[in-house]
Order: sequence, then C-alpha cells, then structure tokens
Amino acid sequence: MTELDTDHVRGFFPAFAEASLQGQAFFENAGGSYTCAPVIDRLTRFYRSRKVQPYGPYDASRLAGEEMDEARSRLAAMLGVEADELSFGPSTTANTYVLAQAFRGWLQPGDAIIVTDQDHEANSGPWRRLAEAGIELREWRMDPATGLLDPAALATLLDDHVRLVCFPHCSNVVGAVNPVSEIVELAHDAGAFVCVDGVSYAPHGLPDVGALGADIYLFSAYKTYGPHQGLMVLRRGLGEALPNQGHFFNADTLYKRFTPAGPDHAQIAACAGIADYLDGLHAHHFAPEPDPRRRAAQVHDLMRAHEARLMEPLLAYLRERNDLRLIGPGSAQGRAPTVAVASGQAGRALAEALAAQGIMAGGGDFYAVLALRALGIDPAHGVLRLSFVHYTTPDEIDRLISALDRVQ
Ligand SMILES: Cc1ncc(COP(=O)(O)O)c(C=O)c1O
Repeated sequence: MTELDTDHVRGFFPAFAEASLQGQAFFENAGGSYTCAPVIDRLTRFYRSRKVQPYGPYDASRLAGEEMDEARSRLAAMLGVEADELSFGPSTTANTYVLAQAFRGWLQPGDAIIVTDQDHEANSGPWRRLAEAGIELREWRMDPATGLLDPAALATLLDDHVRLVCFPHCSNVVGAVNPVSEIVELAHDAGAFVCVDGVSYAPHGLPDVGALGADIYLFSAYKTYGPHQGLMVLRRGLGEALPNQGHFFNADTLYKRFTPAGPDHAQIAACAGIADYLDGLHAHHFAPEPDPRRRAAQVHDLMRAHEARLMEPLLAYLRERNDLRLIGPGSAQGRAPTVAVASGQAGRALAEALAAQGIMAGGGDFYAVLALRALGIDPAHGVLRLSFVHYTTPDEIDRLISALDRVQ
C-alpha cells in the first residue's frame, strides 16, 4: 500500500516553516491542529476581497456565497451525506447545546437518553441537563480499568423509552476508537437515534458518516486543519422531525434549522480549504478518482496507516514505564494517536517539563472531567496528553521519547 509522503504533507502547513516554531515538536494536536495553507489562503482571500454580505447580486457577494456553499457541498460529499445535511456552527459545544434545546422541545417526560462517562463534556452536559425537563438519563459507563465502552453493556440499557444514544467516536483522553456502526445498529434496532462526537476522530481521516449510519455526527474544523468552526451532520429524518431552532422563515432549509447564531461567513468559506487539502493529498498519492467520498476514504486509510506506524514505538515505550499509567489501548489497533498518561506528577507539571525540552504537549483534564473521575484520576491532578496526527514524523516521536526519558 502507498505510504504517506510526510515531506509533501508538511509542505501544506506554514507552521512547519515558521521561525518561531522551529526546534519544537507539536504533540497537542487534539487541542487544535495546525492549519493547512489552502484554509489560510481562502480565509485571507475572503477577508481581502469578499468581506461583504454574501449571496447578493454583485460579484464579491456572489463569490462569497458560492465559496460558503462550496465548503458545505464538498465536505458533505466527502462525509457521504447530502449537502444540506451538513451545517456550520461556532463550535461543537455550541452545536450540541442547540441540539439539546431541540430535543428538550421534542421529547416527553419519561423518554430516556443514554450518555457515557467517556465523553468530553460537550457531548455530555447539555444532554444531562435535560433531566430538568423530566427526561431520564441513563449512564453507559466505561470499564474503569481499561477505559473502554462495551456495546454489550449498552444493550442492557436500551428499551423502547430510549430516544437517543450519545457517545464519542473516540474519547479525547482514552483514545480508543468505538465501533460506531455496531453501536448505531444496536440503538436503531431499539428505536433510538444516535449522536456521535467525532471531534477526536475526524482529524485522523474524515469518516464516511453515511456508511457509519449516525443520525448526528459532530466535529471541530479547528482540530481538523481548518478554522474555528463546529461541523454538524444531521441526517434528514431526524433534522426534519426536531423542532426548528433558527428563524421561522428558515425552517424549510435543513442546514439552517439548528444554527441560530449568524454564520461566520469567512470561516465557513475557508473550510473548503480542508477539502482542497485532502484532495491535494489524494492527487499526490493515488490515481485520479472521481468520487469525493472514495477519495476521502483513501486519504483516511493513508493517514491512519501512517499514524499506526508512529504509535507503536511510543506505546511500546510507555508500556515499559512502570511509573506511568497509559490510559486506553496499549497497541495501535483500534486507537487514535491521542495518548494520555497518568503519573505521580500532575499532568500540567509534566507538560511544562516537556515544554522545556522542545515538546509542545498538554496537561490537565481536557474537559473530560467525568472520564478522569471514572478512571480514578483526580481531574485537578490531570493527565499528560501526547497527541499527534498524520503530519508527525518518526523523528518527532524519537524526540518525544528522549524528552520523556529526561523528564521522568
Ligand atoms: C472529544 C471532544 N469533543 C468535543 C470538544 C469540544 O469541541 P469545541 O471546542 O469545538 O466545542 C472537544 C474539544 O476539545 C473534544 O476534544
């Protein structure tokens, strides 16, 4: 199989040529990735020459609207959904908040929602708050030792009261990739919809949301090489059934129903740069392929294979460190390269020690407070998180391992 050409990849990211970042290896990608040049170029072009009310009759305005539509339609095609099933909001947290308001108006007291303790707070708190409206909240708990969510445990929670199952494609501290299709099938068989937080998964290759079958799939463009936007797939059946949260006169336009905030025109337009980037990678590594969904799948597999190769030595090293507790799967199989470790030292202190060694990493609770508590870790003490993506090189992994040796 074709291997990822990381020199080519890094050529797309101005951060790697930025003088102030030289000599530092970036391992806090799960907090926000570097931005690719096509996104920066589109954003700059928009602000320079299209920064007017879009969808008007004059050229600058027409082009502004066309670029916003282009972002939605190209990314939707890559995600395997219809263009109007994808919408842009200020962030994933804001998107789940709006969705929860819609469910609050739709569900009846006695209906139930399943939430997990593996999620980031964004896909947890807004749903839990619906208890105030008489909705029953059921807890799908992870194994406190492994951090894994077992679909068999979900099956015991499902019955005909359950209307929605919320869970992460991948947790931002456990790193395990959950079997989305299997979970979707269980939930759908029980008559429930599913809401998947894909924020920690999408940067590792855009998922085929159509094939996964999720009714709601959310991710954040600023962690996926783009600007600060939250992308939300809402499949038509559910999107048309939930009460509209936007202006009444926009109720017939699916992608406007759950984005009450005025759209950030420039950032939405710039999101087309994510599609440019992924297509650029495709063109470099593969024979031409007319289907955007298929191109995205090939680039996804290319990124994941590269990440798996890089994860193995890091995980092998961490497994050997008796003073560190590796959170989540110990091998690359079924794992994203979001690798958290707990130790006697606070996560933040370890991250500071690594910063002095030229390693940019993060320490803390990462808003996965419930997950850390469930794992028996005090969120105030936190974990060190080492997160990378496909543009990371073997040399950077070596530098990380040497730095970890020095700061122990
Ligand atoms: C797994 C996960 N879900 C949701 C979020 C929230 O995303 P946003 O910052 O776009 O609200 C984050 C952010 O760190 C995350 O890691």
